[in-house]
Amino acid sequence: MKQAHPSQEAPGKSVLVTGVSSGIGRATALRLASAGYLVFGTVRKKTDADELAALGPVEGGRGALVPLILDLGRREGLPELLGGVEAELAARGMPGLYALVNNAGGSLVAPVELMSLEAFEAELRARLIGALALVQAFLPSLRRAGGRLLWIATPGTIPTAYVTGIHACDFAVNCIARTLALELGRSGPPVVLIRCGGIRTRAGLDTMGALERGLAGAQPERRAIYEEKLSRWSRSMAAFDGRRSESELVAETIARALSAPRPRKRYRVGYLSAAAAFLESLPQVLVDRILAAAG
Ligand SMILES: NC(=O)c1ccc[n+]([C@@H]2O[C@H](COP(=O)([O-])OP(=O)(O)OC[C@H]3O[C@@H](n4cnc5c(N)ncnc54)[C@H](OP(=O)(O)O)[C@@H]3O)[C@@H](O)[C@H]2O)c1
Repeated sequence: MKQAHPSQEAPGKSVLVTGVSSGIGRATALRLASAGYLVFGTVRKKTDADELAALGPVEGGRGALVPLILDLGRREGLPELLGGVEAELAARGMPGLYALVNNAGGSLVAPVELMSLEAFEAELRARLIGALALVQAFLPSLRRAGGRLLWIATPGTIPTAYVTGIHACDFAVNCIARTLALELGRSGPPVVLIRCGGIRTRAGLDTMGALERGLAGAQPERRAIYEEKLSRWSRSMAAFDGRRSESELVAETIARALSAPRPRKRYRVGYLSAAAAFLESLPQVLVDRILAAAG
């Protein structure tokens, strides 16, 4: 397939990507800015905003990366962010935001029995409530720009032991995104799921850190019940981690979803994403049996 030169992809288009301090978000923000998009990238820390701002003009492109501070767990900052983005778009003569990419999210690993509720609540706020608040805020702008809405999620809505803190959000994202697509209809902004397999990012490579966060406050005697299973699981994750795909591959897929005249509803990318999508297509009883047997 003939690929457009990056700087020809996005004349006069703008994108808001959440969570661009690292990983998929950062790779996407840089890829899109170098393709000529005006990219608003949200970060939580001022040091991250300063670091991104210091990058200056993005190599090889006519776009720009504008860092904005946003903690999705604290929605009170949203009206100011919306106002700032709209003012910048108006100043550049752009009708509205062309795309919103809901990417930000943490990582949380623990057996459901022991999962820190505080950590899970923070995850739900970031991935679901905060992301939905952004969607509600920016839909009028997306409509004006003939834009589209993207969500980063896992490749299959299948249960996986110890990662329900992440996957419960993915199941809900899947539901919200597909329901939105029905409600917005053909005349509304297309809703696209970018379904990622294993991607080599900070979150993706910090299984033990995520596990410690997930188990914060768990009673030692109840934690002991899972100790052996979790150390076996961590060893298998080390092999998985070695095969993860690069974030740039996801960024490339997102760029394709943004430049396609009619984007697909789902794009699949990254290590084991095909296997997960296949499992998802099977009857649930069978999937549960296969996953139980895999241990
Ligand atoms: N890596 C994978 O294998 C994989 C696979 C499928 C889907 N995903 C999804 O891809 C997305 C990005 O993950 P990643 O692997 O690129 O992880 P990452 O490198 O850790 O990046 C996560 C980003 O989200 C931000 N973030 C986290 N909580 C936030 C909050 N409450 N408010 C605002 N920003 C917040 C982080 O900001 P800070 O730097 O401030 O923490 C960071 O910028 C996540 O939604 C994840 O579930 C990842």
